[in-house]
Amino acid sequence: MELIVWEWVNFLVRWLHVVTAIAWIGSSFYFIHLDASLRKREGLPPGVAGEAWQVHGGGFYHMAKYMVAPAELPEKLTWFKWESYATWLSGFCLLAVLYYHGANLFLVDPAVLDIPWWGAILISLGALGLGWHVYDRMCKSPLGKDDVKLAAAGFVFLVLVAWGLSHVFSGRAAMLHVGALIGTIMSANVFRLIIPNQRKAVAAMLRGETPDPALGKQAKQRSLHNNYLTLPVVFLMISNHYPLAFGTRYSWLIVAIVLVVGAVIRHFFNSRHAGKPTPWWTWGVAAVGMVAMVALSTLGPKDGSDTAATPPNPNFARADFAQVEEVVTSRCSMCHAATPVWEGIGEAPRGVRLDSPEDIRRHAGQIRAWAVLSNAMPPGNVTQITPEERRLLAAWTDQLPR
Ligand code: HEC
Repeated sequence: MELIVWEWVNFLVRWLHVVTAIAWIGSSFYFIHLDASLRKREGLPPGVAGEAWQVHGGGFYHMAKYMVAPAELPEKLTWFKWESYATWLSGFCLLAVLYYHGANLFLVDPAVLDIPWWGAILISLGALGLGWHVYDRMCKSPLGKDDVKLAAAGFVFLVLVAWGLSHVFSGRAAMLHVGALIGTIMSANVFRLIIPNQRKAVAAMLRGETPDPALGKQAKQRSLHNNYLTLPVVFLMISNHYPLAFGTRYSWLIVAIVLVVGAVIRHFFNSRHAGKPTPWWTWGVAAVGMVAMVALSTLGPKDGSDTAATPPNPNFARADFAQVEEVVTSRCSMCHAATPVWEGIGEAPRGVRLDSPEDIRRHAGQIRAWAVLSNAMPPGNVTQITPEERRLLAAWTDQLPR
């Protein structure tokens, strides 16, 4: 019963998280586009930097942007903040349900670092809190005066975090935590800076003063960061379904590349929407980055078993399939069976059953992706599969028709 409840909590919280994230990213993309499409013309009201006409849902919208604030505040103002807060809150719940409740399977990998589950959870919380503070300090330091230098420093910082976490958590948790840190930074930007600054501007107006334009400038910088981080954060959040991304030796480099690829793709759309010359080069950079990610992922898992580099073994066809079956039975089928015997696993995970020769053969491709080309399975290597056994699976899956 408990298992069923956890499974549904996982599913429903994930549903919520995806929906809130769509709402947040959707409104963010909308406003970035709106901002970029504003045009100046003669005769705009004082304080208006530009206007845009839009058509949607059977009506016409006439938008005008007041740079600092309108001379008179309207009675009703719509604030955009709950999309962001709800995304973070639901994301944190999902992190807790999956990675804290299931820490021994998904957070800790003793082959990476043998730490108790509670230590791993503390490191996770620490990384999110500390990571935000380092970033925030960086923005407020003299570095923050130069957008390009700040972006370069932020990039180096995130890559260091990715590299560091890959030496602490399982590959899967390491990659997800870089995403969680970026999500935390983005949400905290809204909560700690963008909204408070806007409130200060409104308060100044109500006092009859002109709001300090520095407030808006600061918020704009954070908003720009959020814009360029949107695509990488989504990649990192869905990475845990793709073992070649998170479970291979250079996963931290894949993080570095996706930060660049995501940012240049965003740049393409930002420039286009603003009516600037279209930077077609961004697709060249993105393509090179994607090829590099694929190439890096073929270099095999981290545990030195070099399974990906194992040359095909022509004699294997004659070798006994019984050996493969034995490895899978002793390392996988305690979970991947009709009735798993592993505590906390209620049914064959993701419907993958590996408890009969036919089932093992049927899933050869998946076994190759999850346990040969990457070390995503067994999770945290809880059943202690050896590099030799992985090589055996490699030799077997290698000689199968693909
Ligand atoms: C301790 C239990 C456990 C063991 C042992 C285990 N797995 Fe898994 N496996 C899981 C869980 C849990 C998932 C679901 C992961 C997720 O939610 O993304 C999973 C997912 C998978 C998937 C992914 C299916 C998909 O497409 O999403 C494959 C393939 C797989 N395991 C293969 C293996 C192989 C091969 C072994 C042995 C080398 C193995 N597993 C050992 C628990 C286990």
